[in-house]
Amino acid sequence: MKKPFVAGNWKMNTDSRTSVDLADSLASGIVENYNATVAVFPPFVYLQAVRDALDGSSIAVGAQDVYFEPDGAFTGEISVSMLKEIGCNYCLCGHSERRHVIGETDKLINKKVIAAIGGGLLPVLCVGELLKEREASQTNEVVTRQLKEGLAGLSAEKLAAVIIAYEPVWAIGTGLTATPQQAQEVHDFIRKLLAQMYDDESASEIRILYGGSVKPSNAADLMGQKDVDGLLVGGASLKADDFLSIIRASV
Ligand code: PGA
Repeated sequence: MKKPFVAGNWKMNTDSRTSVDLADSLASGIVENYNATVAVFPPFVYLQAVRDALDGSSIAVGAQDVYFEPDGAFTGEISVSMLKEIGCNYCLCGHSERRHVIGETDKLINKKVIAAIGGGLLPVLCVGELLKEREASQTNEVVTRQLKEGLAGLSAEKLAAVIIAYEPVWAIGTGLTATPQQAQEVHDFIRKLLAQMYDDESASEIRILYGGSVKPSNAADLMGQKDVDGLLVGGASLKADDFLSIIRASV
């Protein structure tokens, strides 16, 4: 049985004090025997302080992005080994804001996924369609492209290190959550696609998270879907009580 995975993406929020306060509240509020893997993704500059604040708790820390080169003249970028060195276990790759605001391509995201796995960070590969793509019935096509290109060159053995997050772009930060049925439909499609690309076992083992306006009131229904293995939470992960309720609803 896969453990539910609940991730909090803090995006470009918090400051040096509120990031540590939030981590402290989560560390004291989490019940250690929850049957869930929990990770938070603070801004780069607060990773170390948040890691320290969470020391001794079961909550892991991840980065919101990573660069694929190991070192060198890449102004502004952060490498896998830098993240590993300060205790990160995970990184998001291809979050919709990086795809659609910053302009990251599937090719670049693929290099990040490969570099992350190579350096021992577990990538959370985010995929999802825009509203206009859903309205044009292109959801499956978009998700297929993002998965095929994002996972290009990865063996089934390497795939085992990947977590997928389905985040319909129209549901992110909008308050519009996909219905549990809409989420299940795409998660089922993703799992079947992975079974075709790899094999049944790899597809059934991989964790597929749902993200997009997850809140305490909808977490349990989303988690109740057969192919939803966890949640990627943005806005609601900035409030310790809400994030803790979502974790409780997921186990
Ligand atoms: P949201 O963000 O929960 O605020 O919609 C989710 C995400 O972008 O990961």
